[in-house]
Amino acid sequence: MSSPIRASRCRARRILVTGGAGFIGSHLCERLLARGDEVLCVDNFYTGSRENLHGLLDHPDFELLRHDITFPLYVEVDQIYNLACPASPVHYQFDPVQTTKTSVHGSINMLGLAKRVRARILQASTSEVYGDPEIHPQSEHYWGHVNPVGRRSCYDEGKRCAETLFFDYHRQHGLEIKVARIFNTYGPRMHPDDGRVVSNFIVQALRDEPITVYGDGAQSRAFCYVDELVDGLMRLMDAEASITGPLNLGNPAEFTIMELAQKVIALTGSRSRIVRRPLPPDDPRQRRPDITLARTLLDWQPQIALDEGLRRAIPYFERLVTRGGLAPAGAAAA
Ligand SMILES: NC(=O)c1ccc[n+]([C@@H]2O[C@H](COP(=O)([O-])OP(=O)(O)OC[C@H]3O[C@@H](n4cnc5c(N)ncnc54)[C@H](O)[C@@H]3O)[C@@H](O)[C@H]2O)c1
Repeated sequence: MSSPIRASRCRARRILVTGGAGFIGSHLCERLLARGDEVLCVDNFYTGSRENLHGLLDHPDFELLRHDITFPLYVEVDQIYNLACPASPVHYQFDPVQTTKTSVHGSINMLGLAKRVRARILQASTSEVYGDPEIHPQSEHYWGHVNPVGRRSCYDEGKRCAETLFFDYHRQHGLEIKVARIFNTYGPRMHPDDGRVVSNFIVQALRDEPITVYGDGAQSRAFCYVDELVDGLMRLMDAEASITGPLNLGNPAEFTIMELAQKVIALTGSRSRIVRRPLPPDDPRQRRPDITLARTLLDWQPQIALDEGLRRAIPYFERLVTRGGLAPAGAAAA
Protein backbone atom coordinates (compact mmCIF):
# COMPACT_ATOMS: atom_id res chain seq x y z
CA MET A 1 0.00 0.00 0.00
CA SER A 2 1.37 3.43 -0.85
CA SER A 3 2.01 5.91 1.95
CA PRO A 4 -0.45 8.78 2.44
CA ILE A 5 2.27 11.21 1.33
CA ARG A 6 2.90 9.31 -1.90
CA ALA A 7 -0.82 8.99 -2.47
CA SER A 8 -1.23 12.76 -2.10
CA ARG A 9 1.50 13.28 -4.72
CA CYS A 10 -0.41 11.26 -7.33
CA ARG A 11 -3.08 13.93 -7.54
CA ALA A 12 -2.65 17.71 -7.63
CA ARG A 13 -1.38 18.85 -4.26
CA ARG A 14 -3.32 21.49 -2.39
CA ILE A 15 -0.73 23.98 -1.31
CA LEU A 16 -1.14 26.93 1.02
CA VAL A 17 1.29 29.80 0.49
CA THR A 18 1.14 32.42 3.23
CA GLY A 19 2.57 35.74 2.10
CA GLY A 20 1.84 34.59 -1.45
CA ALA A 21 1.10 38.11 -2.70
CA GLY A 22 4.63 39.27 -1.80
CA PHE A 23 7.84 39.28 -3.81
CA ILE A 24 9.04 35.68 -3.30
CA GLY A 25 5.55 34.30 -2.60
CA SER A 26 4.12 35.42 -5.94
CA HIS A 27 6.95 33.72 -7.84
CA LEU A 28 6.41 30.58 -5.77
CA CYS A 29 2.64 30.55 -6.48
CA GLU A 30 3.39 30.88 -10.19
CA ARG A 31 5.82 27.95 -10.17
CA LEU A 32 3.52 25.68 -8.15
CA LEU A 33 0.61 26.34 -10.52
CA ALA A 34 2.85 25.72 -13.54
CA ARG A 35 3.72 22.34 -12.00
CA GLY A 36 0.03 21.44 -11.73
CA ASP A 37 -0.63 22.08 -8.04
CA GLU A 38 -3.67 23.81 -6.54
CA VAL A 39 -2.62 26.95 -4.74
CA LEU A 40 -4.34 28.80 -1.93
CA CYS A 41 -2.61 32.14 -1.44
CA VAL A 42 -3.21 33.80 1.94
CA ASP A 43 -2.06 37.36 2.46
CA ASN A 44 -3.10 40.44 4.45
CA PHE A 45 -1.55 42.74 1.79
CA TYR A 46 0.67 44.46 4.34
CA THR A 47 3.50 44.59 1.82
CA GLY A 48 2.10 42.32 -0.90
CA SER A 49 -0.36 43.25 -3.63
CA ARG A 50 -2.88 41.79 -6.05
CA GLU A 51 -0.75 43.28 -8.81
CA ASN A 52 1.99 40.78 -7.98
CA LEU A 53 -0.54 38.04 -8.76
CA HIS A 54 -1.47 39.48 -12.12
CA GLY A 55 -2.03 36.55 -14.48
CA LEU A 56 -2.75 34.10 -11.65
CA LEU A 57 -6.08 35.46 -10.45
CA ASP A 58 -8.00 33.84 -13.31
CA HIS A 59 -6.19 30.52 -13.05
CA PRO A 60 -8.72 27.76 -12.21
CA ASP A 61 -6.38 26.20 -9.61
CA PHE A 62 -5.60 29.48 -7.85
CA GLU A 63 -7.46 30.97 -4.91
CA LEU A 64 -6.68 34.17 -3.03
CA LEU A 65 -7.76 34.77 0.55
CA ARG A 66 -7.23 38.02 2.45
CA HIS A 67 -6.29 36.88 5.92
CA ASP A 68 -3.83 37.82 8.66
CA ILE A 69 -1.98 34.72 9.87
CA THR A 70 -1.80 36.07 13.42
CA PHE A 71 -5.42 34.76 13.50
CA PRO A 72 -6.24 31.05 13.17
CA LEU A 73 -7.07 29.59 9.77
CA TYR A 74 -8.99 26.39 8.99
CA VAL A 75 -8.42 24.96 5.51
CA GLU A 76 -7.66 21.53 4.03
CA VAL A 77 -4.20 21.43 2.45
CA ASP A 78 -1.32 19.00 1.89
CA GLN A 79 1.59 21.43 2.17
CA ILE A 80 2.13 24.86 3.70
CA TYR A 81 4.82 27.34 2.68
CA ASN A 82 4.90 29.92 5.48
CA LEU A 83 6.31 33.07 3.87
CA ALA A 84 4.11 35.72 5.50
CA CYS A 85 6.27 38.37 7.16
CA PRO A 86 7.49 41.78 6.04
CA ALA A 87 11.11 41.27 4.98
CA SER A 88 12.69 44.70 4.62
CA PRO A 89 13.85 46.81 7.59
CA VAL A 90 11.63 49.73 6.52
CA HIS A 91 8.55 47.53 6.62
CA TYR A 92 9.30 45.29 9.58
CA GLN A 93 10.35 48.22 11.77
CA PHE A 94 7.20 50.22 10.93
CA ASP A 95 5.10 48.05 13.28
CA PRO A 96 7.64 45.91 15.15
CA VAL A 97 5.07 44.35 17.49
CA GLN A 98 3.04 43.12 14.52
CA THR A 99 6.26 41.80 12.95
CA THR A 100 7.01 39.64 16.00
CA LYS A 101 3.36 38.56 16.16
CA THR A 102 3.46 37.51 12.51
CA SER A 103 6.52 35.33 13.07
CA VAL A 104 5.47 33.91 16.44
CA HIS A 105 1.63 33.86 16.56
CA GLY A 106 1.57 33.32 12.80
CA SER A 107 3.86 30.29 13.07
CA ILE A 108 1.84 28.86 15.96
CA ASN A 109 -1.34 29.19 13.88
CA MET A 110 0.20 27.64 10.78
CA LEU A 111 1.86 24.84 12.76
CA GLY A 112 -1.46 24.16 14.49
CA LEU A 113 -3.13 23.94 11.09
CA ALA A 114 -0.39 21.62 9.77
CA LYS A 115 -0.81 19.40 12.83
CA ARG A 116 -4.59 19.23 12.39
CA VAL A 117 -4.56 18.31 8.69
CA ARG A 118 -1.19 16.44 8.79
CA ALA A 119 0.35 18.79 6.24
CA ARG A 120 4.04 19.23 5.65
CA ILE A 121 5.11 22.78 6.48
CA LEU A 122 8.06 24.93 5.38
CA GLN A 123 9.22 28.05 7.19
CA ALA A 124 10.83 30.92 5.28
CA SER A 125 13.50 31.76 7.82
CA THR A 126 16.35 34.11 7.15
CA SER A 127 20.08 34.70 7.27
CA GLU A 128 19.20 37.38 9.85
CA VAL A 129 19.10 34.57 12.44
CA TYR A 130 22.91 34.77 12.24
CA GLY A 131 22.81 38.48 13.20
CA ASP A 132 26.15 40.24 12.72
CA PRO A 133 28.10 36.99 12.25
CA GLU A 134 31.47 36.31 13.84
CA ILE A 135 32.23 33.49 11.41
CA HIS A 136 32.35 33.66 7.65
CA PRO A 137 30.78 32.20 5.57
CA GLN A 138 27.83 31.21 7.73
CA SER A 139 26.99 27.53 8.00
CA GLU A 140 23.87 26.11 9.64
CA HIS A 141 25.91 25.04 12.68
CA TYR A 142 26.58 28.64 13.65
CA TRP A 143 24.15 29.83 16.35
CA GLY A 144 24.40 33.50 15.50
CA HIS A 145 25.26 36.84 17.04
CA VAL A 146 21.99 38.69 17.43
CA ASN A 147 21.09 41.79 19.43
CA PRO A 148 17.86 40.86 21.27
CA VAL A 149 16.79 44.45 22.02
CA GLY A 150 17.67 46.45 18.90
CA ARG A 151 15.49 47.78 16.09
CA ARG A 152 16.11 44.69 13.95
CA SER A 153 15.27 42.31 16.81
CA CYS A 154 11.53 42.13 16.03
CA TYR A 155 12.48 40.44 12.77
CA ASP A 156 15.63 38.53 13.78
CA GLU A 157 14.33 37.23 17.11
CA GLY A 158 10.83 36.63 15.71
CA LYS A 159 12.33 34.39 13.03
CA ARG A 160 14.56 32.65 15.59
CA CYS A 161 11.55 31.93 17.79
CA ALA A 162 9.65 30.65 14.74
CA GLU A 163 12.48 28.17 14.08
CA THR A 164 12.26 27.01 17.70
CA LEU A 165 8.51 26.48 17.33
CA PHE A 166 8.97 24.49 14.13
CA PHE A 167 11.48 22.15 15.74
CA ASP A 168 9.37 21.74 18.89
CA TYR A 169 6.30 20.82 16.82
CA HIS A 170 8.52 18.36 14.96
CA ARG A 171 9.90 16.77 18.16
CA GLN A 172 6.71 16.95 20.19
CA HIS A 173 4.06 16.19 17.55
CA GLY A 174 6.02 14.44 14.79
CA LEU A 175 5.17 17.17 12.30
CA GLU A 176 7.02 17.12 8.96
CA ILE A 177 8.88 20.42 8.94
CA LYS A 178 11.31 22.20 6.66
CA VAL A 179 13.25 25.31 7.66
CA ALA A 180 14.96 27.36 4.93
CA ARG A 181 17.34 30.15 5.91
CA ILE A 182 17.01 32.51 2.98
CA PHE A 183 19.83 34.93 2.14
CA ASN A 184 19.40 38.17 0.15
CA THR A 185 17.17 37.49 -2.82
CA TYR A 186 16.37 39.86 -5.67
CA GLY A 187 14.38 40.02 -8.88
CA PRO A 188 11.20 41.40 -10.44
CA ARG A 189 8.39 42.33 -8.00
CA MET A 190 10.73 43.44 -5.25
CA HIS A 191 9.25 46.52 -3.63
CA PRO A 192 10.82 49.51 -5.35
CA ASP A 193 10.75 51.71 -2.25
CA ASP A 194 11.36 49.43 0.72
CA GLY A 195 15.01 50.40 1.13
CA ARG A 196 16.44 47.04 0.10
CA VAL A 197 19.77 47.52 -1.53
CA VAL A 198 19.24 45.96 -4.98
CA SER A 199 15.87 47.58 -5.72
CA ASN A 200 16.99 50.86 -4.23
CA PHE A 201 20.15 51.08 -6.29
CA ILE A 202 18.33 50.14 -9.51
CA VAL A 203 15.59 52.74 -8.99
CA GLN A 204 18.11 55.45 -8.07
CA ALA A 205 20.23 54.57 -11.10
CA LEU A 206 17.27 54.58 -13.50
CA ARG A 207 16.40 58.06 -12.30
CA ASP A 208 20.02 59.26 -12.43
CA GLU A 209 19.70 60.11 -8.72
CA PRO A 210 22.63 59.76 -6.29
CA ILE A 211 23.16 56.14 -5.21
CA THR A 212 23.22 55.94 -1.42
CA VAL A 213 25.88 53.68 0.07
CA TYR A 214 26.14 53.20 3.82
CA GLY A 215 29.56 53.51 5.44
CA ASP A 216 32.49 52.90 3.08
CA GLY A 217 30.55 50.32 1.04
CA ALA A 218 33.03 47.58 1.97
CA GLN A 219 30.35 45.54 3.75
CA SER A 220 29.56 42.43 1.73
CA ARG A 221 26.43 40.61 0.67
CA ALA A 222 25.58 37.64 -1.54
CA PHE A 223 22.58 37.94 -3.86
CA CYS A 224 20.39 35.12 -5.18
CA TYR A 225 18.08 35.50 -8.16
CA VAL A 226 14.48 34.80 -7.16
CA ASP A 227 13.81 31.93 -9.62
CA GLU A 228 16.70 29.93 -8.17
CA LEU A 229 15.63 30.63 -4.61
CA VAL A 230 12.10 29.40 -5.38
CA ASP A 231 13.58 26.27 -6.94
CA GLY A 232 15.51 25.68 -3.68
CA LEU A 233 12.36 26.12 -1.57
CA MET A 234 10.44 23.61 -3.70
CA ARG A 235 13.28 21.08 -3.60
CA LEU A 236 13.48 21.39 0.17
CA MET A 237 9.72 20.98 0.58
CA ASP A 238 9.69 17.86 -1.59
CA ALA A 239 12.85 16.32 -0.16
CA GLU A 240 12.52 13.24 2.04
CA ALA A 241 11.01 13.84 5.47
CA SER A 242 14.31 13.40 7.34
CA ILE A 243 15.67 16.56 5.67
CA THR A 244 14.26 19.19 8.00
CA GLY A 245 16.92 21.86 7.77
CA PRO A 246 17.70 24.44 8.88
CA LEU A 247 19.19 24.78 5.44
CA ASN A 248 20.87 27.85 3.96
CA LEU A 249 19.51 28.94 0.58
CA GLY A 250 21.40 31.72 -1.15
CA ASN A 251 24.03 32.46 -3.74
CA PRO A 252 27.51 32.20 -2.22
CA ALA A 253 29.08 34.65 -4.69
CA GLU A 254 29.98 37.63 -2.50
CA PHE A 255 30.12 41.28 -3.51
CA THR A 256 30.74 44.50 -1.61
CA ILE A 257 27.93 47.02 -1.62
CA MET A 258 30.23 49.35 -3.56
CA GLU A 259 30.73 46.69 -6.26
CA LEU A 260 26.96 46.25 -6.48
CA ALA A 261 26.46 50.00 -6.90
CA GLN A 262 29.05 50.09 -9.69
CA LYS A 263 27.48 47.12 -11.49
CA VAL A 264 24.02 48.71 -11.34
CA ILE A 265 25.34 52.00 -12.72
CA ALA A 266 27.09 50.19 -15.58
CA LEU A 267 24.12 47.95 -16.47
CA THR A 268 21.57 50.77 -16.44
CA GLY A 269 23.87 53.21 -18.27
CA SER A 270 23.13 55.66 -15.48
CA ARG A 271 24.73 59.04 -14.81
CA SER A 272 24.23 58.55 -11.04
CA ARG A 273 27.10 59.25 -8.67
CA ILE A 274 27.66 57.38 -5.40
CA VAL A 275 27.08 59.22 -2.10
CA ARG A 276 27.90 57.87 1.37
CA ARG A 277 25.75 57.89 4.48
CA PRO A 278 26.51 56.72 8.05
CA LEU A 279 26.14 52.99 8.69
CA PRO A 280 22.86 52.16 10.53
CA PRO A 281 23.07 50.29 13.88
CA ASP A 282 23.35 46.47 13.78
CA ASP A 283 23.99 46.45 10.02
CA PRO A 284 25.86 43.15 9.41
CA ARG A 285 29.39 43.66 8.04
CA GLN A 286 29.37 40.55 5.91
CA ARG A 287 26.99 37.89 4.74
CA ARG A 288 27.65 34.83 2.66
CA PRO A 289 25.94 31.48 2.86
CA ASP A 290 27.78 28.23 3.15
CA ILE A 291 25.48 26.11 0.96
CA THR A 292 27.31 22.80 1.30
CA LEU A 293 24.22 21.22 2.88
CA ALA A 294 21.80 22.41 0.18
CA ARG A 295 24.25 21.30 -2.51
CA THR A 296 24.64 17.86 -0.96
CA LEU A 297 21.08 17.17 0.18
CA LEU A 298 19.07 18.94 -2.54
CA ASP A 299 21.55 19.01 -5.41
CA TRP A 300 20.84 22.74 -5.48
CA GLN A 301 23.29 25.41 -6.48
CA PRO A 302 22.56 28.85 -7.97
CA GLN A 303 23.86 29.32 -11.52
CA ILE A 304 22.67 32.85 -12.35
CA ALA A 305 25.52 35.33 -11.95
CA LEU A 306 24.78 38.75 -10.46
CA ASP A 307 25.22 40.61 -13.77
CA GLU A 308 22.77 38.27 -15.50
CA GLY A 309 20.22 38.48 -12.66
CA LEU A 310 20.42 42.27 -12.64
CA ARG A 311 19.88 42.29 -16.42
CA ARG A 312 16.70 40.22 -15.89
CA ALA A 313 15.45 42.39 -13.02
CA ILE A 314 16.12 45.88 -14.41
CA PRO A 315 13.30 45.88 -17.06
CA TYR A 316 10.72 45.40 -14.27
CA PHE A 317 11.92 48.52 -12.49
CA GLU A 318 12.16 50.40 -15.79
CA ARG A 319 8.45 49.76 -16.32
CA LEU A 320 7.66 51.06 -12.82
CA VAL A 321 9.79 54.16 -13.20
CA THR A 322 8.36 54.90 -16.66
CA ARG A 323 4.83 54.44 -15.36
CA GLY A 324 5.63 56.95 -12.55
CA GLY A 325 3.98 56.98 -9.16
CA LEU A 326 7.00 55.69 -7.25
CA ALA A 327 7.90 57.40 -3.98
CA PRO A 328 11.33 59.02 -4.07
CA ALA A 329 13.96 56.36 -3.47
CA GLY A 330 15.41 56.60 0.05
CA ALA A 331 18.62 55.24 1.51
CA ALA A 332 19.30 51.55 1.06
CA ALA A 333 19.62 48.77 3.60
CA ALA A 334 20.60 45.25 2.67
N1 LIG B 1 13.57 38.70 0.08
C1 LIG B 1 14.60 38.28 0.78
O1 LIG B 1 15.75 38.59 0.45
C2 LIG B 1 14.39 37.41 2.00
C3 LIG B 1 15.52 37.03 2.74
C4 LIG B 1 15.33 36.23 3.86
C5 LIG B 1 14.07 35.79 4.23
N2 LIG B 1 13.00 36.18 3.49
C6 LIG B 1 11.68 35.72 3.96
O2 LIG B 1 10.90 35.30 2.87
C7 LIG B 1 9.54 35.66 3.08
C8 LIG B 1 9.02 36.47 1.89
O3 LIG B 1 9.82 37.63 1.76
P1 LIG B 1 9.58 38.70 0.60
O4 LIG B 1 10.87 39.28 0.24
O5 LIG B 1 8.74 38.08 -0.46
O6 LIG B 1 8.78 39.82 1.38
P2 LIG B 1 7.41 40.56 1.03
O7 LIG B 1 7.24 41.65 2.02
O8 LIG B 1 7.38 40.91 -0.41
O9 LIG B 1 6.34 39.41 1.26
C9 LIG B 1 5.79 39.13 2.51
C10 LIG B 1 4.31 38.89 2.32
O10 LIG B 1 3.73 38.54 3.57
C11 LIG B 1 2.50 39.27 3.73
N3 LIG B 1 2.24 39.38 5.17
C12 LIG B 1 2.94 40.08 6.09
N4 LIG B 1 2.40 39.90 7.31
C13 LIG B 1 1.34 39.08 7.15
C14 LIG B 1 0.38 38.53 8.04
N5 LIG B 1 0.40 38.81 9.35
N6 LIG B 1 -0.59 37.73 7.53
C15 LIG B 1 -0.64 37.45 6.20
N7 LIG B 1 0.25 37.94 5.31
C16 LIG B 1 1.22 38.75 5.79
C17 LIG B 1 2.77 40.59 3.04
O11 LIG B 1 1.61 41.30 2.70
C18 LIG B 1 3.57 40.14 1.83
O12 LIG B 1 2.73 39.79 0.76
C19 LIG B 1 9.49 36.43 4.39
O13 LIG B 1 9.09 35.55 5.42
C20 LIG B 1 10.91 36.86 4.59
O14 LIG B 1 11.23 37.00 5.97
C21 LIG B 1 13.12 36.99 2.39
